[in-house]
Amino acid sequence: MSSNPAKNSSRNNRDHWQIAESLLPGAGLGGYSLPREVRFVIREGRGGRLVSVDGREYVDFVCGAGATIIGHNHPAVIEAVRERAGRGMHFFGALNDAALELAEELAAAIPCAERIIFTTTGSEATAYCMRIARAATGRPRVLKFEGAYHGNHDYAAFSMFPAAPAKYPAAKPDVGGVPVALDATMSVAPFNDLATVEKILAEQSEEIAAVMVEPVQRVIFPHDGFLAGLRALTHRYGVLLIFDEVVTGFRLAYGGAQEYFGVRPDLASYGKIVGGGGPLGCVAGRADLLETTNPGRKGRADYAYINGTLHGNPVAAAAGLATLRVLRESGFYDRFHARADEFRGALTDVLTQTGVPAIVAGAASFWQFLFTERAPANQMEVLASGMQRSAALDLELLRGGVYVLPNVRRFFSAAHDAADQAAVTAALGRACRALAT
Ligand SMILES: Cc1ncc(COP(=O)(O)O)c(C=O)c1O
Repeated sequence: MSSNPAKNSSRNNRDHWQIAESLLPGAGLGGYSLPREVRFVIREGRGGRLVSVDGREYVDFVCGAGATIIGHNHPAVIEAVRERAGRGMHFFGALNDAALELAEELAAAIPCAERIIFTTTGSEATAYCMRIARAATGRPRVLKFEGAYHGNHDYAAFSMFPAAPAKYPAAKPDVGGVPVALDATMSVAPFNDLATVEKILAEQSEEIAAVMVEPVQRVIFPHDGFLAGLRALTHRYGVLLIFDEVVTGFRLAYGGAQEYFGVRPDLASYGKIVGGGGPLGCVAGRADLLETTNPGRKGRADYAYINGTLHGNPVAAAAGLATLRVLRESGFYDRFHARADEFRGALTDVLTQTGVPAIVAGAASFWQFLFTERAPANQMEVLASGMQRSAALDLELLRGGVYVLPNVRRFFSAAHDAADQAAVTAALGRACRALAT
């Protein structure tokens, strides 16, 4: 932090961009950098909105990549963070009371959670799930779905942003720096296609440790019976089932996708909401599987090592607990989903009235514009929808003060109110008319 607050407060968007461009690759914080004309630096978040350092307001549908389900700066979360930070930001190597209270709450909420292990991020949680599955079964491969996102590690890099269909089950990473040797540790199948999954399991069941699935893959909802079918197939072939609930956990329902779709996996990964916007994730699952991480097993081949400086961070745990308390309020999810349906309906009306041939894909609190007639079943159908037009529409929205990342699935938060809906429908109307000219 600068030792000169006056200098900081007088900086505007342009000054900040000079720093970003000279110091940060792509002038960003990760995988996204917005075009120059629409980029902005965030000064603060308030409810369903963001304010840039230049004082411009945006309705925020990125919602911290889904972490801020109850909006920014919720008073209960801020109070919990203040109180907990006042007793120490971080400890390592011993338990803390906030993490234990959160573990108890997670175990009560998550159907498959006989045990919990804490992580710092969702990526760590998915990587640990894979390691646990490999350690428990002694098999090398994980079957994932084409276009599914499981985080930033090497195994997740397979078929993350595919541009063309894979030669199933052969999996290739979409980014550089991943050792070729890892090709033999991943397989890939199209989402919503049980027949292909079954064929791969029949061919590779001796090698496959687990099937890992995002129960809602980006904005693609599973067809009726798909997740139950995966459960039945994994049982039949003696393979573990992992749900990546980093996004769906506590968003689709308090018990996540497991409760919403009524299917119980062996292991599940979490992030985002469980840390209330702070650095915390977890793995939940069967006791016998999570016991592979027990340090008492050190030295054994089935010991799955986990460790991290920030695992179970007390401030993030306090933020998570405060968030979960709000989500537990009676009727929260009914109200939340009803408002999200109303909101998607309002956006669809604007598309219809302006004659833009797109749909508002998604359900519950997930949404994204796609230029297609029906909800896609898999990643190739998403790509076939003409991503250039949806990116152009998203850019117009950004110009109009609506924060979305072009062609990235977005969220509705409980903090979005009637004024936000009015602002975004007006901005969408302008965006649609601008596209037509
Ligand atoms: C389904 C899914 N899994 C894993 C991750 C990785 O989580 P993190 O960014 O916290 O590492 C993400 C992040 O967006 C995600 O959407």
